[in-house]
Amino acid sequence: MPVIYMDHSATTPVSERALAAMLPYFREEFGNPSAVYGYGQTAKNTLEKCRERMAKALGAFRSEIYFTSGGTESDNLVIRSIAAMKRDKGRHMITTMIEHNAVRRTFEALEKEGYSVTYLQPDPMGRITPEQLAQAIREDTILISIMMANNVVGTVLPIKELAMTARKRHVLFHTDAVQAVGHIPVNVHELGVDFLSLSAHKFHGPKGVGAVYCRIPNRLLPMQTGGGQEKEVRSGTENIPGIVGMTEALEEAVENLEGSSVYLTGLRDHITRELCAVPGVHRTGDPVNRLPGFCSFIVENIHHSVFLVNALNERGICVSSGSACSASSREASHVLLALGYDQEMSGEALRITLDTENTREEAEYLISSVKECIALVRAREKKKEGTLEGSVRKAAGR
Ligand SMILES: Cc1ncc(COP(=O)(O)O)c(C=O)c1O
Repeated sequence: MPVIYMDHSATTPVSERALAAMLPYFREEFGNPSAVYGYGQTAKNTLEKCRERMAKALGAFRSEIYFTSGGTESDNLVIRSIAAMKRDKGRHMITTMIEHNAVRRTFEALEKEGYSVTYLQPDPMGRITPEQLAQAIREDTILISIMMANNVVGTVLPIKELAMTARKRHVLFHTDAVQAVGHIPVNVHELGVDFLSLSAHKFHGPKGVGAVYCRIPNRLLPMQTGGGQEKEVRSGTENIPGIVGMTEALEEAVENLEGSSVYLTGLRDHITRELCAVPGVHRTGDPVNRLPGFCSFIVENIHHSVFLVNALNERGICVSSGSACSASSREASHVLLALGYDQEMSGEALRITLDTENTREEAEYLISSVKECIALVRAREKKKEGTLEGSVRKAAGR
């Protein structure tokens, strides 16, 4: 049975172009950039060229790009650096209730260390307004961190306006753009953000590599001690094949952005229309300001989306119930709860995230399979209602 992969927000396969670019750096050009001989200097040149190319693709300067191990590290690096650096100026920070755990859990950890955090409440579509942000800023606010695109409902937030609000009040602004980079236009100088996190595996680069954009020099503190690479910010021998793959993948994504966006928006809207015609299926997130290939729904009366995701898996379709990090957990999504869905509905999310590799035929197969599987899961769940399991669930309020 051929597998149809439609969970590109969780991760993407490395593109052929990125893979071809990476391969020489595993054996022929394997040098350590810190070494003085030829192999080392070649690696150093490659590293700096990648920094330059990454900067160009993001509308940044070369000196503003730092390489990391991915989105989680980039988010931690920014938030923890500013918290430590500015603690004498203030201990208040602002974020939203719909951030990825890489941001959310970092703020929760800092709260335990005595910082105070305001979690902005989104509207039911996942939107946050500049006015809302302005109201939350205090004299002692030292950092604002708001994601560019949400990983559960696909809503794209108005980062330019939010960053402008922060700048007017002289507060540093970070955006977690892990779901956005490579999928929608991202130009850091036009956006006016101070920091931005990205991760290669979300745009057909390899896993375990990412970057931070940092507008102001000396604003990042080392989270680990060691050889002082990345201008003392991030010690550890640089992952040259990974960085080369990420750079190539980003350039490829940016080159193809316009065409892919048109194609994916068409496919997304077709799937959304078809599935929302099924009774009890509702789209989640902003209908207009959303990622091009991002379809997200609540499917009522399936008890938990894990049953639907498993049924689709049996038909060779890979989709998810929410974010990748919560895919195996039965916990309701904190994002959907924040959007106002109740506990039960928040456990009934279905996320289908497309890529240009997904064909029209695959979309048709997906639509018919989702419809059939919803009917199947609902019938199974209804049957369980009269059983012991059903009574236990009812008593437990599940
Ligand atoms: C919005 C967002 N931020 C951060 C991350 C973490 O990135 P990484 O997997 O590179 O650590 C993810 C991954 O799913 C994400 O979706």
